[in-house]
Amino acid sequence: MSLGSIVKRNVGPQTWRRLRRVAWPLVRRHRLRFAMSYIGPLVDMAEAWARSDSEDSNFLYALTPMSRLNLTHTLANVFDISVADVGALMEEIETDRAFNDHVRAGLLRLLPGVSSFSIGRRLGWYVAARLTKPKLVVETGVDYGLGSCVLCSALLRNAAEGSPGRYLGLDIRGDAGQLLTPPYAEVGQMIYGDALDSLSAISEPIDLFINDSDHSFDYEAREYETIKSRMSPAAVILGDNSHCSPSLARFSEDNGRRFLFFKEEPAQHWYPGAGIGFSYPR
Ligand SMILES: C[S@@+](CC[C@H](N)C(=O)[O-])C[C@H]1O[C@@H](n2cnc3c(N)ncnc32)[C@H](O)[C@@H]1O
Repeated sequence: MSLGSIVKRNVGPQTWRRLRRVAWPLVRRHRLRFAMSYIGPLVDMAEAWARSDSEDSNFLYALTPMSRLNLTHTLANVFDISVADVGALMEEIETDRAFNDHVRAGLLRLLPGVSSFSIGRRLGWYVAARLTKPKLVVETGVDYGLGSCVLCSALLRNAAEGSPGRYLGLDIRGDAGQLLTPPYAEVGQMIYGDALDSLSAISEPIDLFINDSDHSFDYEAREYETIKSRMSPAAVILGDNSHCSPSLARFSEDNGRRFLFFKEEPAQHWYPGAGIGFSYPR
């Protein structure tokens, strides 16, 4: 307990107000130091990031161990399986040497200033793709294709276990998806153009949908409305905008689906973190 709190408990409110006025410069400095003990490390990390030549957006941070643990439990609840089984699937991709080598080599080529990378919350996408065994996965917003490789890696494992599926990555940028090369491209392909137009042209049922393109709330909502009639009965949606947007929660509510949000905590990064919005059938 702080000295201020002890004094406050032992004097009347009037004396406390007088004492506080007199000691105000000291109190203010103490309060600021307390707040800065939280914010200061973030400012240091922001300065280091600004000086570096690393990625400008779509950050490649890892989750803190606590955040990873929370994600494990979230997935166990959403998919109604044991925490140990989720943990085993997470380890599967984390220790996949071929996957890690592929992504590291690709990112080094594309982003020479990046010293380390992690798939971060895409760990949850991997587990979702392993557990739902989708025949068709669609991701809107691909960028370099880190999520594509994560999802296609899950599809390759599913296929080896007798449950094949394929991946479609939708991006408006003609150079997106550079990491989506063999072996991952054997189960996945890019479709270039505006995501809403590309989604309208998909005729097969979508089993797993990842929204990560234009992050305006309205555009995101329109993606969900566009896929509504194309979703298989057990379709799962993973929203990458749910840390700031109500679109997936509202879509779930309006369509009798469950919604749950996992808030990530980045390790060693100033960014406050995004998360995964899970929308799944009741
Ligand atoms: C945050 S990045 C995607 C990151 C990716 N999901 C990953 O796992 O690394 C967002 C991407 O969305 C794409 N994008 C933005 N607006 C779009 C639109 N209207 N249609 C399709 N793609 C769009 C951008 O070109 C960018 O590559």
